[in-house]
Amino acid sequence: MISNAPVLVCISLLLNALAVSSDNSSDSLLLGCGLENGGKDVDGRQWSSDSKYLTGGNTVASKSSHQDPSLLSEVPYMTARVFTSEASYRFPVQPDKRYWLRLHFYPSVYGSFNPADSYFEVTANGITLLSNFSAFITCQALSQAYLDREYSLAPLNSDSLTLTFKPSDKHNGAFAFVNGIQLIPMPEVFGSSAVMVGNQDQTLDTTTSTFQTMFRLNVGGQYIPPNQDSDLSRTWYDDTPYLYGAASGITSHVEKNVTINYQSMPKYIAPLDVYSTSRSMGSDNNVNMGFNLTWIFQIDPNFMYLTRLHFCDYVETKVNQIVFNIFINNQTAQREADVVAWSGGQGMTTYKDYVIYVGDSPGDENLWLALHPDPETKPEYYDAMLNGVEIFKMNDTILAGPNPQPSQMLLEHEQEKKSFDNKKKTSNTVVIGGAAGGAAGFALVTAICIAAFQRKNRDPGSYTQTSSWLPLYGNSHSSGSKSTISGKSCASNNISAMAQGLCRYFSLQEIKHATKNFDESNVIGVGGFGKVYKGVIDNGFKVAIKRSNPQSEQGVNEFQTEIEMLSKLRHKHLVSLIGFCEEDDEMCLVYDYMARGTLREHLYKGNKPTDTLSWKRRLEICIGAARGLHYLHTGAKYTIIHRDVKTTNILCDENWVAKVSDFGLSKTGPDMNNAGHVSTVVKGSFGYLDPEYFRRQQLTEKSDVYSFGVVLFEALCARPVLNPNLPKEQVSLADWALLCKRKGTLEDIIDPNLKGKINPESLKKFADTAEKCLSDHGLDRPSMNDLCWNLEFALNLQENNGGSRHASREESEFEEVSLGDDENKNLSTANEQEDSSENSSAIFSQIANPKGR
Ligand SMILES: *[C@@H]1O[C@H](CO)[C@@H](O)[C@H](O)[C@H]1NC(C)=O
Ligand SMILES: *[C@@H]1O[C@H](CO)[C@@H](O)[C@H](O)[C@H]1NC(C)=O
Ligand SMILES: *[C@@H]1O[C@H](CO)[C@@H](O)[C@H](O)[C@H]1NC(C)=O
Ligand SMILES: *[C@@H]1O[C@H](CO)[C@@H](O)[C@H](O)[C@H]1NC(C)=O
Ligand SMILES: *[C@@H]1O[C@H](CO)[C@@H](O)[C@H](O)[C@H]1NC(C)=O
Ligand SMILES: *[C@@H]1O[C@H](CO)[C@@H](O)[C@H](O)[C@H]1NC(C)=O
Ligand SMILES: *[C@@H]1O[C@H](CO)[C@@H](O)[C@H](O)[C@H]1NC(C)=O
Ligand SMILES: *[C@@H]1O[C@H](CO)[C@@H](O)[C@H](O)[C@H]1NC(C)=O
Ligand SMILES: *[C@@H]1O[C@H](CO)[C@@H](O)[C@H](O)[C@H]1NC(C)=O
Repeated sequence: MISNAPVLVCISLLLNALAVSSDNSSDSLLLGCGLENGGKDVDGRQWSSDSKYLTGGNTVASKSSHQDPSLLSEVPYMTARVFTSEASYRFPVQPDKRYWLRLHFYPSVYGSFNPADSYFEVTANGITLLSNFSAFITCQALSQAYLDREYSLAPLNSDSLTLTFKPSDKHNGAFAFVNGIQLIPMPEVFGSSAVMVGNQDQTLDTTTSTFQTMFRLNVGGQYIPPNQDSDLSRTWYDDTPYLYGAASGITSHVEKNVTINYQSMPKYIAPLDVYSTSRSMGSDNNVNMGFNLTWIFQIDPNFMYLTRLHFCDYVETKVNQIVFNIFINNQTAQREADVVAWSGGQGMTTYKDYVIYVGDSPGDENLWLALHPDPETKPEYYDAMLNGVEIFKMNDTILAGPNPQPSQMLLEHEQEKKSFDNKKKTSNTVVIGGAAGGAAGFALVTAICIAAFQRKNRDPGSYTQTSSWLPLYGNSHSSGSKSTISGKSCASNNISAMAQGLCRYFSLQEIKHATKNFDESNVIGVGGFGKVYKGVIDNGFKVAIKRSNPQSEQGVNEFQTEIEMLSKLRHKHLVSLIGFCEEDDEMCLVYDYMARGTLREHLYKGNKPTDTLSWKRRLEICIGAARGLHYLHTGAKYTIIHRDVKTTNILCDENWVAKVSDFGLSKTGPDMNNAGHVSTVVKGSFGYLDPEYFRRQQLTEKSDVYSFGVVLFEALCARPVLNPNLPKEQVSLADWALLCKRKGTLEDIIDPNLKGKINPESLKKFADTAEKCLSDHGLDRPSMNDLCWNLEFALNLQENNGGSRHASREESEFEEVSLGDDENKNLSTANEQEDSSENSSAIFSQIANPKGR
């Protein structure tokens, strides 16, 4: 098959030209299957009903009863078209165009249909896309809630596309289903001919091939969502989970003074972000000669794969500065790769396609991509680089592969979770731990599969010795000989693969570089977990880095809990986890930097006049935090109880959007399993503690409501929740505020800065709400949802009854506040400048300096 590979046909060029001039969306279809009246998704895209394209067969439209928290959007996932017998869609298409076909699957219970019974085949004009396919098993293996499959269909030479769903006849009661279908005309992106690996003189024409997207990675960069792609609505993922071994090289970002230039290359080949970041080996020639920069991808054996590599060298300016070899599956795909020579100069983009056949001998379930310096031409630097990679499975008739096998460990984990759930039901305590859902991904593989594979090979039969669980991350960046696996590395065993997939792994070097070796001047906070540092990654992106105290065992658990929880919880009012580092006994969590810090420091710690928050802003912050907590309580698969709601855990970004942080004390399901019920150790912060929790040691979400009530009084009175220097009855803010509220003297203890500026109605509503939160019994406290509503009402009263003079005063207060903001900016630019100084990085090994030279 390889030997009689066809030669390049000129038609590809023709098609290419046609494609460029095509319009973009007029004849694309976005179908929500079983979604009778259509609907909009989270990106505002309109999905329409699929019914008018159906041609006979037994189908039903059905709605899922459960919305997994990881679903970004109800549309198209919450409704499905269920096929109990073979049935087809017929779509009109242009005969000479290539099309994206994206299928979306959310294996959930649909009426009486259990997704575990679903096995089916999908064909598109006779090409088998899926066969004996179980979305349920696939999602289980990937530890995600839903999955997307992307195909690129070669021009069909027909004016219709027949997409057939056929339940398997090998399984009793099997049915087929699909949640969403996208059919989008696309330019001929596969127009160029591809080099056959192992047969360098041959090229393969790819214009008539149908492709399945297996992987699409923004190397050295970050996740790129479909709406930020260059017009082809593709998703690009971070490459770190696929890096093999400890030698992960260094990442860099284009400097501001260099412009990325596509020249004649169409922009849709890959977005600017892909070419703006890259991964290279480092700056030490000897180190670089000693290793291969390697990625590993799990694939289906017995197929041809097209590997597309994207390059743009924005550092080097001359030919023969960096020359390297490219290996695919240990075969030389390319000798003497010189990006500048290929592209024509600094900042110019280019890409190369390589086709390889992967057989079915042992080891062939993986595709290895490796780069190594090529010293033959005596280049100036021994280095190699890559900006992006896409891997497509290709075949003209069949693309279906087997279902992946969920790893033993995942299954065990699931079992544990189930028995925990059952216990939960009987003991009637609501808790905690979101172990569900997952990232979208058409890729059949995530880090977990690779991990499982490596365990299989290196550590046969042992599931208890799980140090290979995180093989991609575990090691330190040493130069070849000594790669130490830290004694605590087993901690990462317990971080689910999904969590790993959802957040980025940072090496200790990167963390040290970002924080200037944990310089004390970068400390922005200290918590139970350890110190929090301000840092700068990726040449200017500000982050907060929480460094754990390596001695504390509790730290390890909370570290894991936080990764597990935060990586799966995404909400406007929750602080996002960007990634983590675990190396050499160091554990760090990397978060979005919240420019304005904690709510508390704006209430009373700073006490600068410019820091005074207006009543309106305080209300807005409280509403934001309440929404975040509401999401924790109800939005996730399990009720998540924060357990440490306080004003230092409510942070504000530069736009004063409030975000709840610090889930370190929250507990996950499996842990609960051992204790049988919610931890009996009372955790939380004094002054905020729910007295009922204290008495009965039983945790409910109403414990958070109590703490939030204290936060509300703190926002109103701007004083610490416990102040031992005050007379006894005033020590605890909660007690004192309640007493004053009942005596009708609350006005006397509110923040003097707010006196006369709060609309009395608004104050009353607010105080009543806070009082209810502090009810002795959880049952009497409002839910977070009620709270949001009441606070919004208080905000309304403030805004609408205040009169215009009042309002303008409020405005001027904001101006004062933003003066404070400018001051901050000034400060941070100063820091950034320091960060970019060449010299700080010299402290760390040569690998740490992203510029290399
Ligand atoms: C379609 O293309 C036109 C011009 O080429 C552009 O203005 C428009 O924004 C595009 N629409 C979408 C949805 O990409
Ligand atoms: C861009 O700036 C860097 C230093 O910041 C300098 O070394 C490099 O030569 C500049 N490149 C161009 C094209 O000006
Ligand atoms: C490539 O080489 C690595 C070791 O360097 C080996 O583990 C792997 O199985 C090889 N892959 C193939 C496809 O031969
Ligand atoms: C790099 O990979 C190639 C191909 O698998 C292999 O032949 C070579 O030995 C590797 N080099 C190093 C230093 O690992
Ligand atoms: C397509 O796949 C089938 C089955 O794996 C194989 O027999 C056939 O040769 C492949 N065709 C091409 C063009 O790769
Ligand atoms: C279908 O897939 C299931 C699960 O992967 C597997 O156990 C079964 O053997 C497959 N059946 C066929 C006919 O391939
Ligand atoms: C990881 O989980 C296993 C059981 O699943 C447990 O025995 C082990 O102590 C955990 N490791 C850490 C560091 O928490
Ligand atoms: C802001 O920066 C300017 C110059 O960089 C400096 O003169 C000024 O003192 C700074 N202001 C503050 C508040 O740091
Ligand atoms: C690093 O910079 C500081 C001040 O910016 C200077 O004192 C020190 O000598 C520099 N170190 C090196 C190694 O260049």
